[in-house]
Amino acid sequence: MKILVLGSGAREHALAVKFAASKRVDEVIVSPGNGGIAQEFVCVELINFEAIADFVRSNGIAMVFVGPEDPLSKGIVDYLQAQEIIAIGPSKLAAQIESSKAFAKDLMKKYQVPTAGYEVFSDYSSAKKYIKEGKYPLVFKADGLAAGKGVVIVNSLAEAEEELIEFMLDNKFGAAGAKLVIEEFLVGWETSIFAFSDGENFVSTIFSMDHKQLEAGDKGPNTGGMGAIAPIIQAEKYKTQIENEIFTPVLKGMKEAGFPFTGVLYCGLMITAEGPKVIEFNCRFGDPETQVILPLLKTDLVEICEAIHEKKVDELELKWKEEFAINIVCAAAGYPGKYEKGKVIEVGDISEDSKVYYAGVKKTQGKLLTNGGRVLGITSLSYDREDLIRKSYSLVDKIFFEGKVIRRDIGLRPQQ
Ligand code: AMP
Ligand code: GLY
Repeated sequence: MKILVLGSGAREHALAVKFAASKRVDEVIVSPGNGGIAQEFVCVELINFEAIADFVRSNGIAMVFVGPEDPLSKGIVDYLQAQEIIAIGPSKLAAQIESSKAFAKDLMKKYQVPTAGYEVFSDYSSAKKYIKEGKYPLVFKADGLAAGKGVVIVNSLAEAEEELIEFMLDNKFGAAGAKLVIEEFLVGWETSIFAFSDGENFVSTIFSMDHKQLEAGDKGPNTGGMGAIAPIIQAEKYKTQIENEIFTPVLKGMKEAGFPFTGVLYCGLMITAEGPKVIEFNCRFGDPETQVILPLLKTDLVEICEAIHEKKVDELELKWKEEFAINIVCAAAGYPGKYEKGKVIEVGDISEDSKVYYAGVKKTQGKLLTNGGRVLGITSLSYDREDLIRKSYSLVDKIFFEGKVIRRDIGLRPQQ
């Protein structure tokens, strides 16, 4: 069968590689993909939903897998399914679990899912009044989609006043920041887990851990993610509790609301002294977590997608490799702020059991050039975690482009 993967990042590259590993898949096509993915898979530019549906029909595509949140929140799955095209991902309404933080928080409150206390504000003056009485630090979150950058931690009233002006008066996050969620600051350590859901039943994955801040020691601004490791053994003991107290009520709540969640539900957690609490939900695979989860997954991804589509997730049993995986992101100088583009990328000799996943990359006149903030990520696997960390960083040193930025402590947090 032929699979079409939608998206342009390293996550989509990892998805394409995993689909291509299925005996049942003859061809994987990525849209739009990028210059690095195009070295391995056909990449096509499809400008809108209609063009995607036409391409699916005229090329005998059996299944469309949607990588990023943006088309999901605009209703791509509803659009394709209305034309009897098999598309994996949530509907527009179900994607609200990511596209509106206020929606996600209200749902969690209703079903008593453990999460940080919060208030939602649509006007500046009531938010201003609230922050005067707040217990600091507080967490400001833009309600809408902000590419993983819409969260700011404020440590004092002065900082909060400044941020509030930027969020609500200067519209730093555009329409996404028109509504503001102000949340209690949770103390603990972070991990994440995915659930494959068919709307009725779900099955959860191993845990992984992203490294959101730009700099080692969790310093600097938040990014889309600078690297990941899996599995997180220390989180395993919470798995049943997370399934029972988080995934089960949230998925039940969405079904009761009339828009069951189908696809991949990402749950970002803080493991606090009181147990796991939800930091965020995403309506899709995480990036860079996918680049460590999929290489460890032994189960055929086509089988998982079919179980989601045919509502047979209850019959699904996931199988995992026993190894650890680390992904280290190489970013462009300036990221997550304004960054440089057009730097020549050279990739040295990478061992066979490691893989470069391309993200912000284009190919011009036979040369790979940087073209985005997160340029690429490299994933390695090993049974020995210390050895894996050494190996991963020696491989990163074989990737050259001017201004390359990496975090030097992926996989080194104490909980791992
Ligand atoms: P999010 O985009 O919601 O995942 O938030 C980005 C990052 O901000 C998270 O990965 C956490 O490191 C941090 N964060 C978000 N919410 C909270 C919270 N309530 N307490 C502490 N840290 C948080
Ligand atoms: N790595 C976090 C995310 O994909 O949103």
